[in-house]
Amino acid sequence: MKDIERLTNGVRVAAVVCNQWGDSGKGKLVDWLASEWADVVVRGTGGGNAGHTIKVGDLVHIAHTVPCGILNPAVMNIIGNGVAFDPRGVCEELEELRAKGIKYSGNLLISHNAKLILPQHLVMDRIREAAASGGEKIGTTGRGIGPAYTDHYARVGLTVNDMQNKDVFARKLRRNLKDKLVLLEKFDRGVVEKVMQHPHLEGGMFFSREGIFDVDAIVERYMEYGRMLGGTITDTDKEVRDRIDNGENVLLEGAQGHMLSIDYGSYPYVTSSDCSIQGLAKGAGLEDIDVQLILGVVKAPYMTRVGEGPFPTEMGGEASAKWCSTHTRKEEEEDYPNALIDDSNEFVQGVAVRRAGGEYGATTGRPRRTGWLDLPLLRYAMRTNGSELALTKLQVFDDVPEVKICTSYVYQGPEYLCGGRTLHCGDILDTATPDIDVMKHCKPNYVTMPGWKGPTADIKDYRDLPENLQKYVHAIRSATNASIRVLSMGPERNQTIVV
Ligand code: IMO
Ligand code: MG
Repeated sequence: MKDIERLTNGVRVAAVVCNQWGDSGKGKLVDWLASEWADVVVRGTGGGNAGHTIKVGDLVHIAHTVPCGILNPAVMNIIGNGVAFDPRGVCEELEELRAKGIKYSGNLLISHNAKLILPQHLVMDRIREAAASGGEKIGTTGRGIGPAYTDHYARVGLTVNDMQNKDVFARKLRRNLKDKLVLLEKFDRGVVEKVMQHPHLEGGMFFSREGIFDVDAIVERYMEYGRMLGGTITDTDKEVRDRIDNGENVLLEGAQGHMLSIDYGSYPYVTSSDCSIQGLAKGAGLEDIDVQLILGVVKAPYMTRVGEGPFPTEMGGEASAKWCSTHTRKEEEEDYPNALIDDSNEFVQGVAVRRAGGEYGATTGRPRRTGWLDLPLLRYAMRTNGSELALTKLQVFDDVPEVKICTSYVYQGPEYLCGGRTLHCGDILDTATPDIDVMKHCKPNYVTMPGWKGPTADIKDYRDLPENLQKYVHAIRSATNASIRVLSMGPERNQTIVV
């Protein structure tokens, strides 16, 4: 039996979700499954904040909102109802695909019920972040995600469908802008105007000196988008169900990661959709019980976080967090040209891991904060996303003498009541709680294991992996009771081992 057949035996609906803070290699796994197994790929959450990198030979593509099955002409790609949909960003993505010679016509569908991102959402996102001080800053991607989902729950949102009905769109737009205008009046008009010149706001096209927003310009532009995308907009919830009934293989593509989930993550340092299997299934028009294989993606032996918020295993701790929020990749390359992963200074280790793993934001270019694999966090995510895992990027640590795994935390904060339990300084936690007032006081307990010799990227059989790498994988398995199904040993489709 082929590897992929062993993995997907008896599976009709599978999902790829991240069990960490995103950027774990979901794009590669989705593209691989699409090339070998899936007939349909559905995105259910997030929007242009995601950056999913796919590499097929010389072709490198970063998908943001378009599903990662798009490189496979036989696969139907669906943007589901739960997605925050920015038509400008999506049109830009489609243009990029066209320029690369990738044909998507006829294999992309967009939910009529996806949540529409409007110019005011980008403005609110950017202004809020610019005005935030100290711990108030989230470090968002500036793509309007939070304000768009907020409007959905505030019952003033618009949907993709509204781009096809001018009068309805204009009425809902005016209603939507009401409270934004009250708030924006309080901000410095110069700052608002500057934000509105951003290329993502079509270089000032929507700005009006009198009313901040030029309603007519927004209506006209969004009607144009409606016409451009018109043939792809449909009831995708029905489409997905019909395709399952027709015996097609459906793959759900998660975005972000469990610890960024609005419901499960390290709130408020999260995104504004539920990135767990539950949010993903719902946003794709299904339920989590419809999914027979959930691959929880786990980057190892290191993991990353972009933006603000606690990160117990961060290499270099607060110094790293600060550095990443204030420096560019170029500055880092100039300041640390020769950083080594086994440097005695943890901060430098973190820089070296970032360089070795290419850990710079696919959406924003920001340096990603780096830290060791955190099992308390993984145990927490597995409560929701289940026990089947795909480990990714292991080859980045080829030839590193030692690897560390965080197996538990020591709570080192003041007495604190959390979830019906009083925490005291010195308490051991095996499973993370996403409460940031706990997490920021958690110090990792590590076990150290010997590293392995590379190269491992092109090994095809688990039994051929270096013994120390097998021991490392086994250590994760036995410490979490996970079933490790897949190892991704590089960005290419064929650099994948089914365990
Ligand atoms: P993929 O799908 C990593 C982070 C941002 C910020 C927080 C809120 O590539 O794994 P938002 O713009 O969503 O309001 O920002 O969430 N974030 C991600 N971090 N990977 C992502 O997506 C992310 N999408 C959002 O950095 O901390
Ligand atoms: Mg990413």
